[in-house]
Amino acid sequence: MKRFILSTLAIILFVPFGVIADQGMWLPMLIGKYNIEDMQSKGFKLTAEDVYSINQPSIKDAIVIFGRGCTGELISPEGLLITNHHCGYGVIQSHSSVEHDYLTHGFWAMTRQEELHNPGLTVRFLVRMDDVTERVLSAIPDGAGEQVRDSIVGVVGHKITEEATSDNHYTARVMPMFYGNQYFLFIYEEFLDVRLVGAPPSDIGKFGGDTDNWMWPRHTGDFSLFRIYADKDNNPAAYSPDNVPYTPKRFLPISLKGVNPGDFTMVYGYPGSTQQYASSQAVAHVVDDLNPLNISLRDARLKVMEQHMRQSDTVRIKYASKQAGVANAWKKWIGERNGLIRLDAIEKKQQLEKNFEEWVNESPIRVEEYGHLLNSFDELYATRKPLSIAASLSREAFYAVELLQLVRQFGGLLNNVDNSKLSEEQYSRLIDYTRDFYKNYHKPIDVEIFTTMMSQLSDILPPALTPLALEELKPENSDDWYAIALGVYSQSVFADSTALISMLADSTSSRINVLQNDIMYRLSNQFDSIYSASVYPSLRDINSKLDLLYRTYVKGLMQMNPNAVYYPDANFTLRVTYGKIEGYFPSDGKEYMHQATLDGIAEKSRLDVYDYTVPQRLLDLYETKDYGKWEVNGTIPVTFLASNHTSGGNSGSPVINAEGHLVGVNFDRVWEGTMSDIMFDPDMCRNISIDIRYALFIIDKYASAGHLLEEMTLIE
Ligand code: ARG
Ligand code: GLU
Repeated sequence: MKRFILSTLAIILFVPFGVIADQGMWLPMLIGKYNIEDMQSKGFKLTAEDVYSINQPSIKDAIVIFGRGCTGELISPEGLLITNHHCGYGVIQSHSSVEHDYLTHGFWAMTRQEELHNPGLTVRFLVRMDDVTERVLSAIPDGAGEQVRDSIVGVVGHKITEEATSDNHYTARVMPMFYGNQYFLFIYEEFLDVRLVGAPPSDIGKFGGDTDNWMWPRHTGDFSLFRIYADKDNNPAAYSPDNVPYTPKRFLPISLKGVNPGDFTMVYGYPGSTQQYASSQAVAHVVDDLNPLNISLRDARLKVMEQHMRQSDTVRIKYASKQAGVANAWKKWIGERNGLIRLDAIEKKQQLEKNFEEWVNESPIRVEEYGHLLNSFDELYATRKPLSIAASLSREAFYAVELLQLVRQFGGLLNNVDNSKLSEEQYSRLIDYTRDFYKNYHKPIDVEIFTTMMSQLSDILPPALTPLALEELKPENSDDWYAIALGVYSQSVFADSTALISMLADSTSSRINVLQNDIMYRLSNQFDSIYSASVYPSLRDINSKLDLLYRTYVKGLMQMNPNAVYYPDANFTLRVTYGKIEGYFPSDGKEYMHQATLDGIAEKSRLDVYDYTVPQRLLDLYETKDYGKWEVNGTIPVTFLASNHTSGGNSGSPVINAEGHLVGVNFDRVWEGTMSDIMFDPDMCRNISIDIRYALFIIDKYASAGHLLEEMTLIE
């Protein structure tokens, strides 16, 4: 029986193409089977083996997971790698100070010796992937409940990864696809010594800032360069001055030919997470509850940060990366919500569900297997709603307060002490946390964020979820929250790094007592205990029930529409998506072209917009048209649009042309298309990439770092 299910599933999950739509994030090892003919019919000149192979170097060997959430690609035989500026942002910031302000001025290593070491930054290559569905599913007994199933999947997955890594230095993970209808093994090789080679000034790399983020027309030079170092045998090694540049199995040649409307493009990287199969209730929850709540909470937080950042350069540098992160999701949620509304996404999902119901009711066997689904979705999402809102309030309101984030790090140790005993080593770890935290901390910002968040929480948190410590702080008049906040911050030892560190280092003080009685600790501790009792377990339980429902639902949808195309939701595993260069019509009477150029940077620089500051040197190059070999039709191409189905995590992904050459680096989507994580619209969804020729122009003419071009393979 199980075997039968498996083979039918395999057939319905990946239908032969012919009806392949414009969307999809495909597993590279399967494109030979399902996509390559379609890709070739759209202009791709290479083979599936060129894209992904385990027998010979292929394009996949030029692609890495960069850090924790981005993609990067190798562009030279000497380990040179390109990714986005915003992916390298934290690292660039960590090397920056008011004296060496690389964020503002950029950074270019003129020799290998000048390349900067980045503790903690790693890259991972995919060694190979395998379909392990049969092995995982055959271990699950018929009728197993979700908990039993989860634990079997865990055990078998562990065994599979152990086997894959027992005689090598690789790491591995088994990942579910289609909510556990399939499982794939991913084996990675991780490199630990990754150095900063170059980054343009923020006025180039982040040009347009949050004003232009998620939007077109776009003029952001969103790239930065790194180099992977290895030991003398080309193996991963911890940072050492003796390490040498890594020789990759494969790097991407760079095309200088540019892009034209209709050209085939492929984006190859690590999209993070999508919910293509979400039910109507799930979409309604995003549109009606989650996004409006999260947007308004971030609105408040951003206002505070931005106001302080404008007043001081030190604060601006400290908060640059944090603010960018907060603003990014904020703006995406706004676009996503608008897009879902415009697409009538809820109604479309309801229609699909109605069709599904009719199809199910055609046969008693279907009713038996699928008949319960839609009602169960209704019930579960109704029960889940307040819990999911509560979880948002924790992330977006309570832990928006930075000091509470620090306290939570302490909590991990403090909650488990058997009265009064922490080792000196544990104290020194706490001191490290503190030092780290205070590097980029500005108390006045946090006091104001505390003020707005606690004031809102004390209004909206249901009494059952309100910590006593918060209840006790609540002033008679909500205008008085700022005074309360000032009181809390002057009282809490966490709010004074010097006092905190010297107390932690003083073995004669009653350290645990002081920490545990601290107002911030009590707030966070009580909050977490309430949530651990009343929110998270129920939420986990519902989510696991939903997993089962979706596993069944997706299987049913595939049976209902055997000719439609299905691809697994993104889950930060390597994917191929392909499309073509094209603009779009954002709204009535407007057409957006596929390319933006340096002329637009000059145009924007004349507007009085904070985010449109252009470095004088770039303006000079523009005024004198000193473009050298990079000139194209009297200007410099800067960015372009294409219809590749990408998501967060695809930042830094290579945009590859029909010949397999690098033409751009993906960094964003257009605002009208940000709902693509939930519903893709071929008319509106476009990914935005930096034209690789702009990056080369900046390296060569702006930064005079042309020596870096010598190690690349440029195809004229
Ligand atoms: N929206 C792009 C992404 O999601 C770029 C983000 C960085 N830029 C910014 N202005 N926050 O990663
Ligand atoms: N900027 C996004 C990232 O960091 C990519 C844009 C998107 O979400 O498509 O991955």
